[in-house]
Amino acid sequence: MDTLTAIQTRNSIPHLEGPAPTHEQMREVYKGALRAPDHARLRPWKFIEVRGEARERLGKTFLETANSLEENLTDGDKDKLLKAPLRAPMVIILAADIKHHPKVPEIEQIISLGAAAQNILLGIHEIGFAGVWRTGKMAFNPRITEKLGLKENFQIIGYLYIGTSMGKEKPLPEHDLNEFLEFWN
Ligand SMILES: Cc1cc2nc3c(=O)[nH]c(=O)nc-3n(C[C@H](O)[C@H](O)[C@H](O)COP(=O)(O)O)c2cc1C
Repeated sequence: MDTLTAIQTRNSIPHLEGPAPTHEQMREVYKGALRAPDHARLRPWKFIEVRGEARERLGKTFLETANSLEENLTDGDKDKLLKAPLRAPMVIILAADIKHHPKVPEIEQIISLGAAAQNILLGIHEIGFAGVWRTGKMAFNPRITEKLGLKENFQIIGYLYIGTSMGKEKPLPEHDLNEFLEFWN
C-alpha cells in the first residue's frame, strides 16, 4: 500500500479481536512513530504496550484511579472500567514525557505525541491490523499518571486499542474538501 492510500483508507475500528501485531511487526511500526515531528528534539514520546493478562491489571488501575476521584461509581461503571482494556488484544498507553523548554510549550509536545500516535495507526493499518484512539476520564488526569507509576511530568493523552478488525467497519466518510480548504491568492 502506498502512503497516501494508507492515510486515505485508515478507519477507526472499535470491534477488535486477536491477533494483535507481533512484537517484530510493532518494532517497525514504532520506528515510524519515532519519526513524528518534534520541536527541539525533545522526544516527548512514551508508548506503554499492554497485552494479554496485563490488560486486566490496567483495568484494575483504571478502577483504582476512578475510585480515588469519584465516590459514587455504580457497579456498572466499575465493571466498564475493569473491562475497558479487554476491548482489544493490545492497548498502547500514550504518555507524553513533557519537558521544560523555553521555546517548546507543553501543547507542542502533546501534538508531537499525537502525530506519533497517528503514525502508529497508519503503520498498523498498512500491515493489515486495525485500531482506535480513545481518551475518556483516564486521559489528561494526573491521578492516572501516578497510578501507572510515571513521574509527575508525564501526561496520559490517550490509548490506542489495536488488533484485528472483526469486520464491522463503518463506511469511510466523504468530506467536501472545499469546507476545509482555502487558498490565499
Ligand atoms: C484525541 C482523540 C480522542 C478520542 N477519544 C475517543 C474516545 O474516547 N472514544 C471514542 O469512541 N472515540 C474517540 N476518538 C475518536 C476515534 O478515535 C475515531 O477517530 C472516530 O471514531 C472517527 O473514526 P475515524 O478516525 O475512522 O474517522 C478520539 C479521537 C481522538 C483524536
